[in-house]
Amino acid sequence: MIELRGVSKVYGRGEQAVTALRNVSLRVEYGEIFGVLGQSGAGKSTLIRCVNLLERPTGGEVRVDGKDMLSLSPAALREARQGIGMIFQHFNLFNSRTVAGNVAWPLEVAGWPRERIQERVEELLALVGLADKARAYPAQLSGGQKQRVGIARALAPRPRILLSDEATSALDPETTRSVLGLLRDINQKLGLTILLITHQMEVVKSICDSVAVLEQGRVVEQGKAVDLIARPGTRLHELCYPTPAPVAGIAVPGGRRVELSLVGENSTQPILTTLARRFGVDAWLLEGSMERVGETRVGRLLFELTGPPEAVDGALGFLREQGLTPEVPRV
Ligand SMILES: Nc1ncnc2c1ncn2[C@@H]1O[C@H](COP(=O)(O)OP(=O)(O)OP(=O)(O)O)[C@@H](O)[C@H]1O
Ligand SMILES: [Mg+2]
Repeated sequence: MIELRGVSKVYGRGEQAVTALRNVSLRVEYGEIFGVLGQSGAGKSTLIRCVNLLERPTGGEVRVDGKDMLSLSPAALREARQGIGMIFQHFNLFNSRTVAGNVAWPLEVAGWPRERIQERVEELLALVGLADKARAYPAQLSGGQKQRVGIARALAPRPRILLSDEATSALDPETTRSVLGLLRDINQKLGLTILLITHQMEVVKSICDSVAVLEQGRVVEQGKAVDLIARPGTRLHELCYPTPAPVAGIAVPGGRRVELSLVGENSTQPILTTLARRFGVDAWLLEGSMERVGETRVGRLLFELTGPPEAVDGALGFLREQGLTPEVPRV
């Protein structure tokens, strides 16, 4: 659906040159929510703007829906952009237009007839839950409501792709959740492919199917969100489960430390009591969490095992047989 191959972007020339993207390749499949996670200055906005060519890459290839975007004529590019909606961190609404006027704007530009515009605007405001705010002005709305208007406006011309540049980072956690819920909803209802960029791990955990991590203009990690979060050693795992200092300092005398990542089926077994019953070992829980990443349960347990050495070895062997992570060194 969206494919970037070896994309680079350099702003400016000579001594002023800033390299924002270095050889970025990624692939967004039809109908998925793909997140690009990175810190400030990593190149996220540059990357997303290279998809609809608001920025032209310095090198590489951009394909959207099979089209080689860089080779399109200006007219063909305008048409391709009709299929790509975009929402922004600071909403970018027209303050002098009503909510309905904002949503109508892209349709006026595209030359839709008036009656169809009105019908479409009503439909969209109902979809984003703002049917009663059609005549309000942006200044009379909360942040979450403004973003809903931004989403309705982006969806107006029936795009197949939605680009989201930090759409929730100006919102409080509760409002963030409701806007993310709306994005997941339209992804499922309309089959919309969403490419979003964010610096918030929470956004990745709650709605992303796939994710790429961007650092200093490079993709350093890419894959299914669940797989990366569950795999110790990845950046996403580290971000999800930073080991707090107090835990690093705790040690049970004679204990052997185990860190388990539990995904899907593994996450529904009574693993600690199984170890206790079958091997007669004790498990001292140091840290644990169980949460949802998209539709999948993902958990992580950090504990120490004590007991007769053969029993502990037996328990560790059993965990290995289950395909679970073996013993980790104490920090
Ligand atoms: N128009 C521009 N001209 C020159 N340099 C730019 C321009 N836009 C971005 N940059 C530089 O490119 C790099 C990446 O910027 P970008 O805005 O893509 O980062 P970001 O990951 O979106 O950051 P943030 O999370 O703060 O929005 C930065 O070093 C930035 O200063
Ligand atoms: Mg940015």
